[in-house]
Amino acid sequence: MKLKSHYFVISLLITILLADCMAGERKSENSLKDALKGKFLIGVAMNANQITGKDTAGVRLIKQHFNSITPENCMKSEILQPEEGKFDFTLADQYVDFGQKNNMFIVGHTLIWHSQAPKWFFVDKDGKDVSRDVLIERMKNHIYTVVERYKGRVNGWDVVNEAIEDDGSFRKSKFYQIIGEDYIRLAFKFAHEADPKAELYYNDYSMSKKEKRDAVVKMVKNLQSQGVKIDGIGMQGHMTMDFPTLDEEEKSIVAFSGTGVKVMITELDLTVLPSPGSKVSADVALSYEYQKQLNPYPDGLPDSVAQAAHDRYAAFFKLFLKHADKIKRVTIWGLTDGQSWRNNWPVPGRTDYPLLFDRNYQPKPIVETIIKEAKSIK
Ligand code: GLA
Repeated sequence: MKLKSHYFVISLLITILLADCMAGERKSENSLKDALKGKFLIGVAMNANQITGKDTAGVRLIKQHFNSITPENCMKSEILQPEEGKFDFTLADQYVDFGQKNNMFIVGHTLIWHSQAPKWFFVDKDGKDVSRDVLIERMKNHIYTVVERYKGRVNGWDVVNEAIEDDGSFRKSKFYQIIGEDYIRLAFKFAHEADPKAELYYNDYSMSKKEKRDAVVKMVKNLQSQGVKIDGIGMQGHMTMDFPTLDEEEKSIVAFSGTGVKVMITELDLTVLPSPGSKVSADVALSYEYQKQLNPYPDGLPDSVAQAAHDRYAAFFKLFLKHADKIKRVTIWGLTDGQSWRNNWPVPGRTDYPLLFDRNYQPKPIVETIIKEAKSIK
């Protein structure tokens, strides 16, 4: 009798242990980062509520599925240095702490960008453009202060964002107008001096366009020939249902990798909404007025559209997996549909469905599809 009850207790313990192991297994099967291990890092852009921990459901999902993070806004220059010499690192510090605590690959985004930069950066006290020397000094001070603060903690920096237009010419930003093309080299030089070990990237949108692809390759080769350390090219990846084509995207992945740097998909999202104009790229400066016909799915996505978006995402992930030897990281630009900037750009107040998790923090079928696809490749 005694022996029997021992036997019963032992087999009960084994059953519990096995069930626990299987639950653990199931959990890892459901994790993007586990499925993609050995292929590429999978990242997400974090908003302020996630960084501060207010969005507890979001934080849980981020820890479960992602092993890299990018700050959606809190490291842009208008936030970090709203007034000359007055830095505000409140959110950025919490962001970096979160990444370190959770053992993530931490991206700093973005040091030099014409947009979301404070107005004072380019003008003197009379509102006139500053001289070349002054702007270089301001760039240097901003980059040194920010990069040195997170030295050895931020793993890679988007040093320059969006310096090239879609036609391949240099964007006529204030940086370009006042300093000239050389501002790009200088930005990389300062960042390297501030943290010699951090990876340094160039990041831009519409990178699948031929003119832009060629111009970026030329620029990167030019920087390399001047001895500049550049470790990666970020292809933002703000997609529509018909842009870019898989074919053009693939050509850019191959061409960028050909320069010897790592390729990253840095800001992936997919709008299913109608385009308000023929010239919509991913220029944040674009804005169109709200019209009802531009917001066709305020109460939910028809199955056929959801399926088409799923299939498009699946095809792109298949392409990324095919080139996993060239791609270091794929970062999704936000966690849930309700949190995406796409709901307000380029038309404010719409309901879009661009991400991998829905408005209720539920994974869409694409999450399982990516996991299966990743696991099917050895
Ligand atoms: C660009 C920037 C990002 C972000 C998006 C819009 O792609 O690189 O930081 O501002 O626009 O959210």
